[in-house]
Amino acid sequence: MTDFTSTALRVDQKGLWVLDQTLLPQQEVWLLSPSTESMVQIIRELKVRGAPLIGVAASLQLAHLAEQGASSDELEKALFVLREARPTAVNLMNAMDRCLVALKKKGPQGLIIEAESICREDVELCASMAAWGAQLIEDGDQVLTHCNTGGLATAGLGTALGAVIHAARDGKKVHVFVDETRPLLQGGRLTAWELEKNSIPFTLICDSMAAALMQQGKVDRVLVGADRIARNGDFANKVGTYSLAVLCKFHSVPFYVVAPQTTVDVNCAYGRDIPVEERSAYEVRGVRGAFGQVEWSLPHADVWNPAFDVTPESLVTAWVLDRGIFTREDVRKGALL
Ligand code: MRU
Repeated sequence: MTDFTSTALRVDQKGLWVLDQTLLPQQEVWLLSPSTESMVQIIRELKVRGAPLIGVAASLQLAHLAEQGASSDELEKALFVLREARPTAVNLMNAMDRCLVALKKKGPQGLIIEAESICREDVELCASMAAWGAQLIEDGDQVLTHCNTGGLATAGLGTALGAVIHAARDGKKVHVFVDETRPLLQGGRLTAWELEKNSIPFTLICDSMAAALMQQGKVDRVLVGADRIARNGDFANKVGTYSLAVLCKFHSVPFYVVAPQTTVDVNCAYGRDIPVEERSAYEVRGVRGAFGQVEWSLPHADVWNPAFDVTPESLVTAWVLDRGIFTREDVRKGALL
């Protein structure tokens, strides 16, 4: 495989490395992933996360195994195991389906080439999305975002956060309100870390503070990413996205979703068809990080922990894809396909 380095992934002579995102921002620790099992665990534990990145990481893991001499049968088995690592982000399924076609047509060598294209393409998709999304951001804007949608969630610049970074690099003054994003704090830990690295000013808020912020007229627009977009424009993203969309409607704040074509599920007609991952109770009863696990609730408190929610298309101002910016009218005419 060709050497590759991004914010969260690295391929070199020793193999495939991932930045352990559960330890950020306190510690920057890189983990070598030698096997299917290690990658599945890394993805399930959210050491690697973000819809496009898990598709890229799983693809590169297969390429690594192919390079180590795995047979077509072994690779096919590994592919189906990786495909199941998480259920909501369709980028993983789309990437695995592409790898399977390449494997069937051209064997392990074909799979290596396809995995590397998936990675390279994600970098390019991010660059296009960022350029389109940046057009929606005005000089002096206060942007609110949720979860983490930057270089830690993709192989490139990111989706929604990529647009913000692009706008800032264009010289626009942008200030970002970062939703901490309970329960796993991808905003407070990861987006804050990325914004700091990009020298973009930000203010961290608890998710429950967004309403008051909008009521005070302090949010010009909200940009979020997506884990799966249905054909009609409904989309799943980190839990808490739907409440932001409802708030935006009430306060007349533009609400944009930024995602690559690899996040569109052509087989999914409506948001209600998107499978939503439910995660462990301990994530809600406490918090875990580089400092260990801190429990603050009753150890047996009943918990509901959906990792994502679904925002209906009627609440979206525009969809920013790598191909351009699409209005609700465009989407109703089939622009996402
Ligand atoms: O559970 P995570 O951290 O993988 O969830 C990630 C998100 O919800 C992102 O907003 C989404 O993947 C889109 S950004 C690339």
